[in-house]
Formats: sequence, C-alpha cells, structure tokens
Amino acid sequence: MTLALLLTRLYGPLTALSNVRVDVMSALVSFDRVFEVLDLKPGIVEKPDAVPVPRRTGRVDFRDVRFRYPSAAEISLASLEEVATLDRTVNEPVLKGVSFSVEPGQMVALVGPSGAGKSTLSMLISRIYDVTDGQVLVGGVDVRDATLASLRDEIGVVTQDSHLFHETIAENLRYAKPDATDDEIWAALAGAQVADLVRSLPDGLETTVGERGYRFSGGEKQRIAIARLLLKAPSIVILDEATAHLDSESEAAVQRALSVALAGRTALVIAHRLSTVRDADQILVLDGGRIVERGRHDELVAVGGLYAELYRTQFAVADSPTPYVDATVPEPVVMPLGTYVADEAMPPAAAN
Ligand SMILES: Nc1ncnc2c1ncn2[C@@H]1O[C@H](COP(=O)(O)OP(=O)(O)OP(=O)(O)O)[C@@H](O)[C@H]1O
Ligand SMILES: [Mg+2]
Repeated sequence: MTLALLLTRLYGPLTALSNVRVDVMSALVSFDRVFEVLDLKPGIVEKPDAVPVPRRTGRVDFRDVRFRYPSAAEISLASLEEVATLDRTVNEPVLKGVSFSVEPGQMVALVGPSGAGKSTLSMLISRIYDVTDGQVLVGGVDVRDATLASLRDEIGVVTQDSHLFHETIAENLRYAKPDATDDEIWAALAGAQVADLVRSLPDGLETTVGERGYRFSGGEKQRIAIARLLLKAPSIVILDEATAHLDSESEAAVQRALSVALAGRTALVIAHRLSTVRDADQILVLDGGRIVERGRHDELVAVGGLYAELYRTQFAVADSPTPYVDATVPEPVVMPLGTYVADEAMPPAAAN
C-alpha cells in the first residue's frame, strides 16, 4: 500500500521534469521574440548633431511635402517574414506636394473628404513619420534636424480618441508635466471645464481611471485630454476634432475648453464643424493628397469649389445651431398635452 502510494506521489514530479525541456524551449523562442522587438531600430531616430527647436515660436511650414506610408515589408520583424508572406507592394503616395505656412498664433483648419490625408499630415509635424520628400519645419527648424524632446515639448495633440491610462487622474495629467503641483492640475482641469466633475468623484484627483477604473464618457475624456494639454502649455496645438458625436451639452463644454486651450497658440485643427472653420484664419482644403483650395470661409464659399460642396453636405449638417458659448442646458419646457411645438422652438438634437 505504502509503495503504491509513494509511486503515485513520484509520478507527478517525474512527468513535470520531463516537460521542463518543452517549457525551456518555448521560453527561449519567446525570449528571441522579445529581444527582437527590443532590438528593433525605431523608424524615427534623432541625429547625433540635432539642435533644439527654438522655444515658443509656434511656426509651422510645409515645403513641397510628399509622403507615402512604408510598406509592411519595410517595417516588419524578421521572424514574421519566416511565417508570413509580406506585402511588398509600395504604398501609393498619400501626400503629393503639400506646401503651406502657419504663422504664430494663427488657427488653420484642415478640411477634406475622408482619406484625403489630413491625419497623416498632422502626424508629420510631431514627426511620428518622416517625410518621403520635402521638408516640415517647426520654428524654422527641419523636424529631422531637431531633438525629439524639444520638438515634442512644443507640440500638443488632442486626438479624436484620447487614451487614459489605468492610473489615477493626477498621474494621467502629470504624464504631460511630471513636476506639476496639485494647484496647477486643478487650474488645468478648470480651464478644460472638467474640474467640477473630478471634484465630485469619491477620491477626487486620486480616482483611478481607465480600462478597469472609473470610465469617463467620450466628451469627458476629451476634456481630460485638453487639461493635459493645458498643463503642458505647448506653443502648437494639433487637434483632430471629434465633437460631432457628442450631445450638445457636452459639446458646448468641449468647445469652451478648446477656446481656452487654443487661445494665443498656433493651432492646426482637422475640422468637422462649421463653427471651427468659420473662425479659422486660413482654411486648407485637402483632396487626394494635394491642397486644392485655400482661403477664408467666405472666399471659399464664393469660389464654389470643393469647399463649397463640403460646406453644403458636411458642415451645414454637422453643425447644430445650439450655442457653444453658453453651456447652460435649456429648461425643459412642460407643455400641456396636445400643444403643437414649432420646430425652431425645440433645441435640435445634436446631428451627427
Ligand atoms: N498606417 C498606414 N499605412 C498605410 N496607409 C495608410 C496608413 N494610414 C492611413 N493610410 C492611408 O492614407 C490615406 C490617408 O489617410 P488619413 O488617415 O490621413 O485620411 P484622413 O484625411 O485623416 O481621413 P478621415 O477624414 O477619414 O480621418 C488613406 O488612403 C489611408 O488608406
Ligand atoms: Mg483622420
């Protein structure tokens, strides 16, 4: 009995021992992969003799910029090439000779049909990709000659889909400015119109947010992202506008937060809303990788080209007549049953 019992006790460790080899071998393969990723050369490298971007000039120039995305084969991991056939076709150029200048403090609106290259263009400024040909200058310095830290200090980006880390609100904001004091953080939150919301949370600034924490709505997340931007105080703001899907109250708050964020800064806004393009100092209409029209709202409407068409089909629809300047929610109107309500008396639902 004892012998039989001992034997069964012995079996387990023995089989485990025979499996060790398998474990070690699969771990080695994983190590290979991990080191391959760690050793991967980033596509964007700083030159050894890079110079810092002059601080706070807020000037952006594009000189005959051409760009195509690298093909899968150019940026793939070696180990992937063993198991998959990579697409070696060279991508079509996305930008085909784009030139413009943004003067300090100006607001430039970028409009155009989907796939025209607007987001791509905005990524070239903070050097997420390098241009294929031509030059992008920030503060008069070619971004390829600039130190990455100084370049990214000058630029703040708010995307359509802002990411919050699974951390406290304070840490999510200090990501932009590690030495920020609590007072500075509260000032930024107030500027971004989100201080009241944070104050109402049980742990205030120490509330954990993100995937498994407190979930902000789209508009709230965007305002947190704007607070992050205010804390960083860059001289150039790039904004991929995403107000179209917000309800009118939340949109009004985002608009007010943005007007604080954009004040006195150079701004490049990928605009989806009429109110933004109307205020812009310069509108660039991008189509098929080229700037096909440029000017101010009234001029471009008068020309009757692509902008005029976008204006009729896209902006006029997306723009709800709800005032952005005033975020107060209209009092609900209590009507006796059967009362006819004229269309214009009702706040229109936020159109998409
Ligand atoms: N990572 C990528 N690799 C290859 N091609 C890409 C990549 N990202 C975008 N493209 C291509 O580049 C073109 C321009 O894309 P981009 O995202 O700049 O358009 P957009 O003007 O921002 O459009 P939208 O208004 O829909 O946001 C598209 O044809 C797209 O297919
Ligand atoms: Mg885009």
